[in-house]
Amino acid sequence: MQLKGRHLLNSTDFSVEELYSIIELAQKIAKKPEDYSEKCKGRIMAALFYEPSTRTRLSFEAAMKRLGGDVIGFPEMSTSSESKGESIADTVRIVACYSDIIVMRHHVPFVPHKISEHIRVPFINAGDGSNQHPTQTLADIFTIYKYKKKLSNLKIGFCGDLKYGRTVHSLIKTMDRYENNIFECISPDCLKIPDDLRREIKSPLRERECLEDVLGELDILYMTRIQKERFEDLDEYERIKGYYILTKEKMENAKEDAMILHPLPRVDEIHESVDDDPRAYYFKQARAGMYMRMSLILHLLGLN
Ligand code: CP
Repeated sequence: MQLKGRHLLNSTDFSVEELYSIIELAQKIAKKPEDYSEKCKGRIMAALFYEPSTRTRLSFEAAMKRLGGDVIGFPEMSTSSESKGESIADTVRIVACYSDIIVMRHHVPFVPHKISEHIRVPFINAGDGSNQHPTQTLADIFTIYKYKKKLSNLKIGFCGDLKYGRTVHSLIKTMDRYENNIFECISPDCLKIPDDLRREIKSPLRERECLEDVLGELDILYMTRIQKERFEDLDEYERIKGYYILTKEKMENAKEDAMILHPLPRVDEIHESVDDDPRAYYFKQARAGMYMRMSLILHLLGLN
């Protein structure tokens, strides 16, 4: 059985101290990547993505390759022998025979958690349905720490799909571990943060529908996409799509040092005219994700 702590399944699996050391290493890698270019020579990462991805998959692949390692995976999971009836558990067991670390995304919550019980090599949850996205949280906290120089004493607005938004679920739990943070959860009634998650949060948390009412008070605005693919009732999606659109005009009311984050992909919730605003950090956040994934791979392989 894999030693506890060698996998990353939930955003709170690492201690606060471990998170700082992962951030610190990511900062060193970003500063002098050539020092790390052979750290994973001879190691193989397997990427098993049962749900589409641009950033997570490619940043993990880039991370492993920039560390001198190699990557295996399927162009599409439908081309694996699962199409002949093999179970996911068996597939991943076999993949573990060929690789040193496994990254898995699955559209069903907790599938990576269940599968990881049988796996001896480090196993990373790259997003499980609407549940968690712990490595996006690594990208998010690296970006916040790099530019705000702190992870505490922040008023953070989470806006959009807080019901199905796994990036929000992971990040709010993580930021709840730092002192004096305040959360403003901004969503339509049908996309409110799940009750059980809200009850877990110890920091002050307010819920509201109107972004403009609170935009001027936020240190960080974490925008999210309303996720069409999670809706059972597409009429409901049609009713609320486009509910929040952050525009250049609205940004006039945001703090001068506010930070706009978005895990991406976006649809229309941040207008492209905001991209040139120095307070828009979402592309820097995507780059940060690669450095944090490099640091994470080294951490889990004991090569840090
Ligand atoms: N942020 C994120 O998880 O993006 P992808 O779905 O493109 O990986």
